[in-house]
Amino acid sequence: MKAIAVIPGQANSVHMTELGSPCLSSIPNGRGVLVQVLQVGVDGTDKEINAAEYGGAPPGYDFLVIGHESFGRVVEVGPNVRELKPGDLVTATVRRPGNSIYDQIGTYDMTVDENYYERGINLLHGFLTEFYVDDPEFIVKVPSGIAHAGVLMEPMSIVEKGIVQAYEIQRRLRLWKPKKAAVLGAGAIGQLATLILRLKGLEVITLARRKAPNHKSALIEELGATYASLEERSYADHAKEHGPFDFIFEATGSSQIAFESLQYLEKNGVLCLTSITGGSLTVEIPGDQVNLDFVLNNKVMFGTVNANREYFEMGVRDLATAECEFPGWLSKMLTHPVQGLDQYKEMMNLLINDSEAVKVYVDVSPL
Ligand code: BGC
Ligand code: ZN
Repeated sequence: MKAIAVIPGQANSVHMTELGSPCLSSIPNGRGVLVQVLQVGVDGTDKEINAAEYGGAPPGYDFLVIGHESFGRVVEVGPNVRELKPGDLVTATVRRPGNSIYDQIGTYDMTVDENYYERGINLLHGFLTEFYVDDPEFIVKVPSGIAHAGVLMEPMSIVEKGIVQAYEIQRRLRLWKPKKAAVLGAGAIGQLATLILRLKGLEVITLARRKAPNHKSALIEELGATYASLEERSYADHAKEHGPFDFIFEATGSSQIAFESLQYLEKNGVLCLTSITGGSLTVEIPGDQVNLDFVLNNKVMFGTVNANREYFEMGVRDLATAECEFPGWLSKMLTHPVQGLDQYKEMMNLLINDSEAVKVYVDVSPL
């Protein structure tokens, strides 16, 4: 079957390759689930992998099949699978458990192992292909009523985790009722973070580069959030007007903006970092001031990566709620479909060059 791969370590190596069809019995104990891939989304991580800044091939291969945001349909299940059946629509988690204690209790997103295994990213082939096989532990059913947004499940899980972790951390306060949030970035992660925080009733300002009006700003405003452009005014000026923020969710891909955010948190506030920055930028911050302010005001900054099954299940519920609260909004996030695996060059081109794109995804097979 066809698959889209890169040669890790070799920039711009995205290409079409052949992969043997996956076999149900490759999963032990009759627990295999064979899934036909319907749609696969791509994001900044795929861009970085193709730029040779990130990612690794599975042992025994010199290439890595990319694609970690999957949506598919179950074709066949092994004799000991009860939780899924042929015809079910599904997505799959990305990371597979290693050895640490966190991996052993299902929280592989919190692994402390040296090596982590992620489908389509590191040491395991991904989903930009025609079929895959996996264990039902890593496959999450998507209700058919939100099939049109199924390809958003993986980015949704990332945002769910960041927000849940922030609330978990804030339990230190006994009582935390955040009012104002800033979301940095209006790409897919920024849009979904704005969505979830609006569903929770927070006042949200979403900062992004480009001047409004544009498609991203229209999406943000439809959620009842405020869109602010960094082309028009500096982050500091926006923060002066709208901040300080109880919660800042950073998803711009810029460590400069991530660290600048340290200055705009409200007392007791929390800053969540999600950007994967594979480069080597150095940033300068007013260290004494920021340190003093963090200490005197009990502030927190934390990083979050990946998501385990629990966050995918939350993602299902929030996508369904979103469709009720903001009908049609999720579909408007799916800005750049690419028809078929053969169009992989177009996929990478849109991902790298089209700043209007909220979500680039491949229609691998008709829904
Ligand atoms: C993926 C995560 C992954 C992270 C780091 C992100 O793009 O969505 O699942 O853990 O990259 O590799
Ligand atoms: Zn991703």
